[in-house]
Amino acid sequence: METDELNARFEIEGSLEFVNGPGGSPLVEISTSHGSASVALHGGHVLHYTPYNQKPVLWMSEKAVFSPGKAIRGGIPVCWPWFGPHPSNPELPAHGLARVSNWVVTSTDQNDDSVSIEMELQSDESSLALWPHLFVLTIRITLGKSLNVALTAHNNGGEAMICSAALHSYFAISDISQIQITGLEGTRFRDQLDNDQIKVDHSAITIDQEVDRVYHDTDSTCKIIDSNWKRRITVAKSGSNSTVVWNPWITKSARMADFGDDEYLTMVCVETTNADADTITIRPGEKHTLVAELSAANID
Ligand code: BG6
Repeated sequence: METDELNARFEIEGSLEFVNGPGGSPLVEISTSHGSASVALHGGHVLHYTPYNQKPVLWMSEKAVFSPGKAIRGGIPVCWPWFGPHPSNPELPAHGLARVSNWVVTSTDQNDDSVSIEMELQSDESSLALWPHLFVLTIRITLGKSLNVALTAHNNGGEAMICSAALHSYFAISDISQIQITGLEGTRFRDQLDNDQIKVDHSAITIDQEVDRVYHDTDSTCKIIDSNWKRRITVAKSGSNSTVVWNPWITKSARMADFGDDEYLTMVCVETTNADADTITIRPGEKHTLVAELSAANID
């Protein structure tokens, strides 16, 4: 659907409007008294979120590619129905099909001081070729005092669907040496950079090298404390019992074409996840919802 038609059906005057985004794919711009956000229909992907009187909460690479079939580097990619490499076929695209598919807008609404958009992705011939299940995946993004992102997978087929997933949030930070991540102290994690060993660390996370960890058995809220910007980002969640923390550091940054060589200094991913033992089984006719709720506040 073109932006004119999208606006005719779904615009909320003064608060929500469709425009042509980079690469020509439509995106929606939302603004309320609490801040602004933008969301691409490609990937059902939140690109930006800036609370009123704050710096942007989400990070977007200067080298991000906006092109059909490509994932966007930054914001909140939707990883579904598998997180990371496909469990049995390494030929299939990493992090599933949702982040590289075109989503369809189904509704927009306004309530008191919040504005929402809902989009969906349905199984079709091309998804069935990659993943043999009939599904409807919906994403509801609500901009209010916080940014709430709710991803619901419905099983419309006759067999159980086994899914892993992530709301793979990239956060903007002043400098990687100036942040601490709290909420995962004492939580066991699988270290993807050290033969998948299970480890535990009892202090808040600080990052001075490549980090790629899947934290297990945790529904904790995480906080990114940025001492330079004097800001705290809060990542609350539900429907998720695992969390991924990722920073590619120097060598991996240099290997990624859509990631600037020094950009690892100003981003960190804290991902609201269903991964490893937290992989979800959805029986026929049932659904599962994964929610990430992001907010930011100044600290002294
Ligand atoms: C993280 C994974 O979630 O995503 C990392 O834990 C991966 O292993 C990263 O490198 C980025 O993945 P991609 O497919 O977007 O380059």
